[in-house]
Amino acid sequence: MAHLLVSGGAGYIGSHTVRSLQRAGHTVAVIDDLRSGRAAAVVGAPLLRCDVGDAQRVPDLLGRYGPFDGVLHFAASIEVAESVRDPLAYYRNNVIAAANLVRASVGHGCRAFVFSSTAAVYGHPEKQPIGEDEPLAPINPYGAGKAMVERILADVEQAYGMRWAALRYFNACGADPDGDLGECHDPETHLIPLALEAAAGLRPALSLFGTDYPTPDGTCVRDYVHVSDLAQAHVLAIEGLLADGPGGAYNLGTGQGRSNREVLETIGRVIGRPVPFSEVGRRPGDPPELVADARRFRHDFGWEPQHSDLETILRTAWSWLQTWRHL
Ligand SMILES: NC(=O)c1ccc[n+]([C@@H]2O[C@H](COP(=O)([O-])OP(=O)(O)OC[C@H]3O[C@@H](n4cnc5c(N)ncnc54)[C@H](O)[C@@H]3O)[C@@H](O)[C@H]2O)c1
Repeated sequence: MAHLLVSGGAGYIGSHTVRSLQRAGHTVAVIDDLRSGRAAAVVGAPLLRCDVGDAQRVPDLLGRYGPFDGVLHFAASIEVAESVRDPLAYYRNNVIAAANLVRASVGHGCRAFVFSSTAAVYGHPEKQPIGEDEPLAPINPYGAGKAMVERILADVEQAYGMRWAALRYFNACGADPDGDLGECHDPETHLIPLALEAAAGLRPALSLFGTDYPTPDGTCVRDYVHVSDLAQAHVLAIEGLLADGPGGAYNLGTGQGRSNREVLETIGRVIGRPVPFSEVGRRPGDPPELVADARRFRHDFGWEPQHSDLETILRTAWSWLQTWRHL
């Protein structure tokens, strides 16, 4: 069993992963400055309140709470549009702070590092579904920063031997089936929670951006992967790296695309309430389709998504929203 450091473990995907790591028998410490996470989401692990970019405190905490076999790095700023408005803030938090954590991890002898990357590293890809060998062509600072950290990790492995995996998530969604963890971003920018909140009357009608894309129903197509399946993928990734298995960059998705309109219709059916929405123009920067070819990760790590059918995603997300917003 391994002793692991999870940065951003008070956030959405990180908190689900902490739970999965603990269930797999590993011990965990969380480093998070709670700029967007929730302390209540960290259970059964010490919460070290610290900015991962803090070059003095991070090595000190690794020394005090370690030695850690591996690190899982989720902490980041996550809004694409904000990254365009304020690129320096994004490069500072998503690249410089990440490099600080990588440096401390190498310095303390960590053997493996799992990094939260994103489909945004591909920009507007030519081919669908997208394989890992498609060129990296990010179109915003958020995606560019993630690609830079992947490169840093590859160089670090070459030089110092720390193993790495970058997991390029497509659309993370859903909530823990136990009902006590879920997504609570502020501001929320993801389709499913926005649509559920609109259906619940917590916000005005949803804006459906773009209905003239070259897709079957004219709306954007995305690949939705349940957060518990992402969490399990992290368990497999860190265990595989620590056992000297394969590493590198991997897509995480289901390989199945769902259109925005399909998601809204399915919500109406699953929760028994229609989603109020109005059709508006395209949002700049949205590719028509982003669907993962995730066969490489399935093959190398034996990953099988268990919760990523759209109905389970929507049911768990709805159940979490009802708990969280006291509906
Ligand atoms: N949510 C998605 O659909 C999605 C898709 C692709 C990639 N990702 C990536 O996955 C990771 C987790 O995303 P999420 O949706 O769980 O985000 P989140 O905002 O819920 O969690 C991020 C956590 O990191 C913490 N944090 C941020 N900067 C920090 C810093 N400098 N020091 C310490 N703590 C810090 C926040 O307080 C928060 O708890 C991010 O790296 C994100 O870029 C998310």
